[in-house]
Amino acid sequence: MADFNQKSTVNISCPLGLAPTLKEEIIALGFTPKEIRETGVEIEATLNDCISLNFWLRTAHRVHYLIDEKPIHKPDDLRNWVKRLPWEEWIPHEGYFSVTSRVDHHTIENDQFANLVVKDAVVDRIRYKKNVRPDSGSDLQKSVLFLFWNQDVARIFIDTSGESLSRRNYRTATAAAPMQESLAAAIVQSTNWKPGMHFINPMTGSGTLAIEAAFIALNKAPASVRNNFGFMHLVGYDDEIYQKVRDEAKKSALKEIDGKIIATDHDPQAVLSAQKNAKTAGVDHLIEFECCDISKTHIPDGDGVVVVNPPYGMRLGEDTDLRPLYKEIGDFMKSNCAGKTGYVFTANMALAKKIGLRAASRTQFFNTTLECRLLEFELYSGSKKD
Ligand SMILES: C[S@@+](CC[C@H](N)C(=O)[O-])C[C@H]1O[C@@H](n2cnc3c(N)ncnc32)[C@H](O)[C@@H]1O
Repeated sequence: MADFNQKSTVNISCPLGLAPTLKEEIIALGFTPKEIRETGVEIEATLNDCISLNFWLRTAHRVHYLIDEKPIHKPDDLRNWVKRLPWEEWIPHEGYFSVTSRVDHHTIENDQFANLVVKDAVVDRIRYKKNVRPDSGSDLQKSVLFLFWNQDVARIFIDTSGESLSRRNYRTATAAAPMQESLAAAIVQSTNWKPGMHFINPMTGSGTLAIEAAFIALNKAPASVRNNFGFMHLVGYDDEIYQKVRDEAKKSALKEIDGKIIATDHDPQAVLSAQKNAKTAGVDHLIEFECCDISKTHIPDGDGVVVVNPPYGMRLGEDTDLRPLYKEIGDFMKSNCAGKTGYVFTANMALAKKIGLRAASRTQFFNTTLECRLLEFELYSGSKKD
């Protein structure tokens, strides 16, 4: 059975652009990054560590625990190698598993083919050892294996997450163009907002930014609403350890916060969705929702940030139609938000010019593959000199 105390290489994947934030989160959890890549961070850790990592990382997508690596030159090598690994010690022989992969090798045109080779080799091995054939398919709710085959080296991992960690399980209602939860968490952590300050989020849509801010303000684990992970479906999994991680997280979460979290949108359906999602997330009592135009969003006195994710033309509405909206965002920030730091997250730099404010910084992000920027505005009353 799997030894949950055995250390191995653990590769933690994240969306493009989020590795620097992920690295900081990993260090804060007490691990030392060995390597930082464009879409992930590598550490040494046990499967028990993976339980905490899955539970606490806000910007990660998957936590992969390395089983073996080998030079592999053709599909037959892959088949023979995988067949020799003791899968009966990892995958319940009467269980269900799936295989995912990222392959860059001249013998493989389609990743699905590599998945099939791995799947058949695992089934053959378990049938030979246990005389029973596990079920397999594309569902990521049970045991999941991940093959990474780049040029002539292949690595095979247990995917201890299963479904992406960005799926926190609270977003049961969606509005137009919702943002990935991991991206929202990275944006919140990239602003100069700190728990205790106000977090104001006009154009909240399904409420992702406000909900992620509430999680951070409470020190609430991002996966606390989720109840299924890949590690739960491994031979040797001990639920007590997971329950301990959950209980400790519950104890360390705050009940109340100091600053206000305000979420508004002019679409009543979006506000209803955001409220519903916040309720599922268990943070609805901390967020003040209002259905109103951005210009009517209440800005409380005191330190805080105003974070706006407007439509940006590629996904909703057209560029020209959106110009007045971007001007309205700039006017609102100038006239109503003095003393706060303003942020606009957009993929459309032509529209961003219509805001009419000078950005103090432009942080690059990717919304899946679309390049975006988080623009930061220092909002003074009068001019900076005054
Ligand atoms: C790109 S979506 C925000 C998505 C959000 N970040 C999420 O994760 O769901 C933009 C939102 O701006 C809202 N909106 C557009 N124009 C507005 C205005 N003038 N005042 C207030 N909200 C507006 C839309 O209703 C939409 O929900």
